[in-house]
Amino acid sequence: MILVTTAGKVGSEAVLLLRQREVPVRVLVRNPGKAKALADAGAEIAAADLDAPASIDAAMADVTAVVLVSPGVPAQELNVIASAARGGVGHVVKATSNASADSPIARRRWQSEIEAGLAASGLAHTLLRSNAYMQNVLALAPAIAMTSGFGSSAGQGRIGMIDARDVAAVAGGIAASPVPHAGKTYWLTGPELISYSDVAAVLSTLLGRPITYRELSFGQDKDAMIRAGVPEPIAEMNAQAFSMIADGDAAWVTDDVPTLLGRPARSFGDFASDYAAAFS
Ligand SMILES: NC(=O)c1ccc[n+]([C@@H]2O[C@H](COP(=O)([O-])OP(=O)(O)OC[C@H]3O[C@@H](n4cnc5c(N)ncnc54)[C@H](OP(=O)(O)O)[C@@H]3O)[C@@H](O)[C@H]2O)c1
Repeated sequence: MILVTTAGKVGSEAVLLLRQREVPVRVLVRNPGKAKALADAGAEIAAADLDAPASIDAAMADVTAVVLVSPGVPAQELNVIASAARGGVGHVVKATSNASADSPIARRRWQSEIEAGLAASGLAHTLLRSNAYMQNVLALAPAIAMTSGFGSSAGQGRIGMIDARDVAAVAGGIAASPVPHAGKTYWLTGPELISYSDVAAVLSTLLGRPITYRELSFGQDKDAMIRAGVPEPIAEMNAQAFSMIADGDAAWVTDDVPTLLGRPARSFGDFASDYAAAFS
């Protein structure tokens, strides 16, 4: 049995892909009512909360491998790691980012803390260090649909942007056959470096009308996210990440996705076509 912690962008797709292969899979969610499609696909639904260790222990019964993906709050993911160790789980596949203990971005320091806890647990594990997800662009979709434009403080920085569905395919594949991947770190990216100007160009072609990209300052970007409902600490981290992108922080691409999946990574054009309705 594979346990996937949370049914967000990566988790829900990993569950569906594993069920397509008829692999037994359980998904940890705090609201089972939101997981009906996963239950219909044959996944077991475990009602649990990452802040409640006893509920995680119940979800961990008979689990051989864990796909550890969540918002990346250290106490919560360390709860899962401790539960996996208690349960004798064989392997943990951890979704993470370009983490480091001295990053200026808090959530990257948190990921580093979680990775250290995973290493100290003695559990066999694999780290999936992903570049920025294409699905982040969906947060801009309402502005694009209403104003035919969007802004960011990412400047002309280029990004090896990856479709979160490819992260899920890698995570699920490793969880199903983990042995060759123990102790490995993979750097997951899409097939090419793209800037937000390139994003605007792809969307212009797809939607058949000009989509404009406006460069924003750090403060303008953070304020715009807060106005759109993003909590202030997250807006701060997002704007920090975009400013670092402007300086080249995300300008890296690898072959890890095609090597692991045996097919090309999805391009931004593929992603935009699949999600066209959201931008229309
Ligand atoms: N976005 C990027 O560009 C990017 C890039 C590299 C790495 N990553 C990493 O990817 C991970 C996030 O993955 P994702 O994008 O798939 O996540 P996501 O779509 O944001 O989903 C997070 C899920 O966690 C659930 N959740 C939150 N608190 C919970 C709790 N206390 N107990 C149980 N479930 C809880 C949420 O459920 P509800 O529906 O109940 O709220 C939601 O389904 C992070 O580790 C991040 O660092 C992201």
